[in-house]
Amino acid sequence: MNLGGREVGSRQSRLAKWSMRYPTVADLVEPARRRIPYFAFDFLKGGTGDELSCERNYRAIREVELAPRYGGPISSVDIRATMFGRELASPVVISPIGMDGAIWPGATRILAATARDLGIAYMPSTMATASIEEVAGIAPDNAWFQLYAFADNDHDVSFDLVRRAEKAGAGVLALTVDIPSPPRRVRDMRNGLLPKMKLTPEKILAMLSRPAWLSAVAREGMPTLANIRPYCTPGAGRDELEAFVRNNKAGAGVTWDTVRRIRDLWKKPLLVKGIMHPADALEAVAAGVDGIVVSNHGGRQFDPSPATIDVLPAIRAAVGDKLTVLMDSGVMSGTDVVKAIACGADGVLVGRAFMYGLAALGTDGARHVAHILHEELRVALAQSGADTLEGARQLAVRHPGAWSLAEFGIQDV
Ligand SMILES: Cc1cc2nc3c(=O)[nH]c(=O)nc-3n(C[C@H](O)[C@H](O)[C@H](O)COP(=O)(O)O)c2cc1C
Repeated sequence: MNLGGREVGSRQSRLAKWSMRYPTVADLVEPARRRIPYFAFDFLKGGTGDELSCERNYRAIREVELAPRYGGPISSVDIRATMFGRELASPVVISPIGMDGAIWPGATRILAATARDLGIAYMPSTMATASIEEVAGIAPDNAWFQLYAFADNDHDVSFDLVRRAEKAGAGVLALTVDIPSPPRRVRDMRNGLLPKMKLTPEKILAMLSRPAWLSAVAREGMPTLANIRPYCTPGAGRDELEAFVRNNKAGAGVTWDTVRRIRDLWKKPLLVKGIMHPADALEAVAAGVDGIVVSNHGGRQFDPSPATIDVLPAIRAAVGDKLTVLMDSGVMSGTDVVKAIACGADGVLVGRAFMYGLAALGTDGARHVAHILHEELRVALAQSGADTLEGARQLAVRHPGAWSLAEFGIQDV
């Protein structure tokens, strides 16, 4: 994505126009719904079961209050974050989104280029639609990698993926632990995406009625599980790739022993993604990881799960400063980012928001979302008097939904 002067100019005027028309991420949800096929939109937006944990994530962040301070020394607002020894433009990391190219064709490559250009981190999924080699080629300094373990054959495939991520130059590896079994995502069931996508006349019609999405498919090609290709027969089609993932129960069968083995293999910073309990956070410390992502997978796995923001303070209290603590699930604004940091996070992952941007606006939509989040973050830091992320950690917080350590059955840490 090397743009000439005129294209840069037209991108800037596009972004300026969007910042008036779509000043928040929420403004992008309905345009996204209108621009991509209904089954792709439902796959993106939906959660598990009754989608209570999805709603709880959004509601709980909304309930958090921060008390602003005035009259302190004047300093400039700074949203830069240092994570794992690297300075990033902000504490916002782009989340792994499996089959992202089905939501917006070319998404993995676009997100990689966006992260590179804006100086933020991007963690492509094992199920991304471009390979980790390709992502690291596009964004050598900004690529992390999300790993789904494949427990069969004593983790042959898991460890091969780790080696590939290392060889490609990914800076951080995150092992996702919150898929012990396949979830029941009822929108996908109703839409005939599970257990495997059936192409029906209704779906074909839905695709034909979304010309922008269709022309992106024509440009980018059909989405494919690019990281999985080497484990299937050469030239394998979608059915074979998906069957591999299904039959090998991607993500399941992870134990703390698996984490230790990956720790031995991967020398750079290692994260465990999907922690919701302080006792598991302490297991992560014992396994020697560098950080955790407090995450309920955006409400896509276990419907009775608490909101992530509500368990974050207890998890931070349990691990102290032994780990970098990131949080995701429900972050839709820069103000949400400040709240997460005030409640104990060092940074946040953001998933759906970036995808709504791509679905609503195409390639530059991810850039627009980053601009919204960064601008809102700057304004919230200035308005609160915190000015910096360090300052945000000192803000007084009222957090009605916060779980105490005692509610987890932990008396002392
Ligand atoms: C469509 C979709 C696909 C996802 N695929 C993955 C994945 O492949 N690996 C993973 O660790 N998390 C995956 N997640 C979870 C996200 O990485 C992240 O935890 C979650 O989306 C954060 O919540 P948010 O969407 O509210 O920002 C997925 C989420 C969505 C919405």
